[in-house]
Amino acid sequence: MRIESSRYTERFGAIQLHDVQKVLELDSGRAKEGTPQEALAVLKIDEDTIKDHEERMAIVIPTKNEKLKLFEGVIAGVPHECLKIVVSNSERRKFDRFRMERDALAQYCRFTQRRALIVHQKDPRLGEALRAAGYPELLDDQGLVRDGKAEGMIVGMLLAKMIGKDYVGFIDADNYFPGSVWEYVRCYAAGFSLAETPYAMVRVLWRYKPKMSVHGLYFKKWGRVSQVTNRVMNTLLSHKMGFDTEIIKTGNAGEHAMTLKLAEILPYASGFAIEPQELLSLFEGYGGVLPAADPEVAQRGIEIFQIESRNPHLHEEKGVEHIHEMLLAGLGALYHSPLCEAETRELILEELQDQGALPAGEEPPKPQLYPPFAKADIKAFRRALEPHLDEHMIWPNK
Ligand code: GDP
Ligand code: CO
Repeated sequence: MRIESSRYTERFGAIQLHDVQKVLELDSGRAKEGTPQEALAVLKIDEDTIKDHEERMAIVIPTKNEKLKLFEGVIAGVPHECLKIVVSNSERRKFDRFRMERDALAQYCRFTQRRALIVHQKDPRLGEALRAAGYPELLDDQGLVRDGKAEGMIVGMLLAKMIGKDYVGFIDADNYFPGSVWEYVRCYAAGFSLAETPYAMVRVLWRYKPKMSVHGLYFKKWGRVSQVTNRVMNTLLSHKMGFDTEIIKTGNAGEHAMTLKLAEILPYASGFAIEPQELLSLFEGYGGVLPAADPEVAQRGIEIFQIESRNPHLHEEKGVEHIHEMLLAGLGALYHSPLCEAETRELILEELQDQGALPAGEEPPKPQLYPPFAKADIKAFRRALEPHLDEHMIWPNK
């Protein structure tokens, strides 16, 4: 893979925020090829380096009632070396969609000699294991994991840690193109290969998001939600730095990955606020404005990469209400951040009202925050899940 070098890096306390790096070539050939003089503007990341990082990566696929055909395509797109972890909150009563997902995954793994793990978010044994691990915050009063994409992602990260992976990446299950999935994971691997700290994050920016218009297919660059979220987040940062910045281009990136070392020290927001909150938690904890959340981490530094894919992004369109829900959740997180001052708050209310997502005079909701999962006793989690693992783990020849 060939990508642009990072030409500009914004520094915010202990955080290095790299500007967008475009993918120039999906496959850059063998390791031995490549000329030394290109090293300045363009980086070549050879296949072995990509594979070395993919081997250490778990890919978490959160899913809830997505079309099985899309789910199958997504699992086919995840590179062979990664361990797939599916966390499903799909229907089990009228139709057992979870069973269909499990069967599809098992069949796929059998034919491709791959390993995977699949759990249902509402499995009571998962709830018990979380309690045993001392991480009951994720549970409702019945002892089951709460609904929500974020909650599924946290379960996935805990499983990745339990298995001993170094990196965890996320891929939505409603992606239409297996080739995009494949590229996103390569972007994660490329980002990690460039990181100089154990605390790194890679966020994918899609080149285009195709939309149907009256004139046919239109390749749009920016989605509505991401445009607004990025603008507000940049305003917030600009105020804190005293210089205007437009560095944030992936405030809402669902397709992103982290080193497990970084993943386990972040507080997470519930539901759809999780992605913007990850950045906010970093700015709050390590931006140098508030006291450092962990001085050792601050000392090692944190790197955030934003990599622009070649493949366009096409996923299920879930309607205007879903857009409002995403906007409210993300901007709600920003609004209630201790870093957010009056001017940015005003801007948030204006944006939400403009989009018709919030009536005048109301405030966006404050997201619920889950504590970092570093505190969870991962051995106790494993011990509690171990007797059931056979049912959840799909290994080849099984
Ligand atoms: P968007 O792509 O950000 O607009 O949001 P989506 O509605 O497509 O959700 C992103 C991913 O999260 C999809 O794969 C959904 O199926 C999945 N998802 C949504 N809600 C839940 C949930 O409650 N639990 C889990 N495990 N996944 C969910
Ligand atoms: Co989607």
